[in-house]
Amino acid sequence: MATLSAFVAPFHESTATFKDDIFKGKVLFCTGGGSGICRGMTEAIMKHGAKATIVGRNLERLNKAAEELSASTGQKCLPAQADVRQPKTLQDAVQKTIEAFGRIDFVICGAAGNFLAPISGLSENAFRTVIEIDTLGTYNTLKATIPHVRKTKGAYIHISATLHYRGTPFQAHVSAAKAAVDALSTVIAVEEGPHGVRSNVLAPGAISGTEGMDRLSAKGPDAGNRDMLYPLGRPGIIGDVANAGVFLFSPAATYISGQVFAVDGAQEHLRSLV
Ligand code: HXC
Repeated sequence: MATLSAFVAPFHESTATFKDDIFKGKVLFCTGGGSGICRGMTEAIMKHGAKATIVGRNLERLNKAAEELSASTGQKCLPAQADVRQPKTLQDAVQKTIEAFGRIDFVICGAAGNFLAPISGLSENAFRTVIEIDTLGTYNTLKATIPHVRKTKGAYIHISATLHYRGTPFQAHVSAAKAAVDALSTVIAVEEGPHGVRSNVLAPGAISGTEGMDRLSAKGPDAGNRDMLYPLGRPGIIGDVANAGVFLFSPAATYISGQVFAVDGAQEHLRSLV
């Protein structure tokens, strides 16, 4: 079986499938955009002509990411420090975006928190913290952006996961939080549909080069033999998720709303014989 390194390619090669200027004049607002999957999605969308605001807690990391994103795409990127658990900081980030760019077309609700812990070792505050970042944070982002996204008849992408489709050990907090995110997206799709707004979920599987994968994947002695866990022979790369994000915001997806798309190379469907 081929090694992972043989498959890792810069994601812009995959998004080059789309026309360069499909998002010209559009504005993206992305929570969690300072790193990982959300940063990769932001870069891909900017490469197709959009300006963007990236939102996160760590200002130093945001500033650096915004500079790099502007340099690699030739588009403006605004860093906006906010904690999705605090509605006022999000409202300020939205206001900053409107002042700088005049509109919001696309929103990625991507800010998330995670760690591995059995429910017996999960304090009430630990459970609440992840629910507050993932679920309440999504609610707060929706509340702050919906009036602007209605004006542009724009679209939402919610970053979820596949782990709540079955029982994933040590992930009670995230499973509960992401199931609620999926539900929020579905309701937004039907409530905001009449205003011309679409809402979908991207559910990444194991994506290499992300903090989630670094922190959450088991590091046992068999860690080098995981190819058999991947039906396509490799874990995902950030470009795989970015590619799906570009499609979902593009005019090609105009009639797609209320859906959940797993970007996991069929990993969720893989079942052992024993
Ligand atoms: C048990 C833990 C814990 C652990 C934290 N806590 N880590 N409990 N096991 N490993 C508990 C703390 O003890 C505390 O409870 C409570 O959680 C809050 O912790 P804080 O550190 O005070 O919270 P905060 O500083 O707000 O940080 C939030 C965080 C942190 C979620 C704990 O990890 C974070 O900021 N993460 C953001 C980045 C991140 O996680 N990215 C990966 C996302 S990947 P007590 O009771 O002691 O007060 C992802 C993908 C999912 O989401 C799908 C994967 C396949």
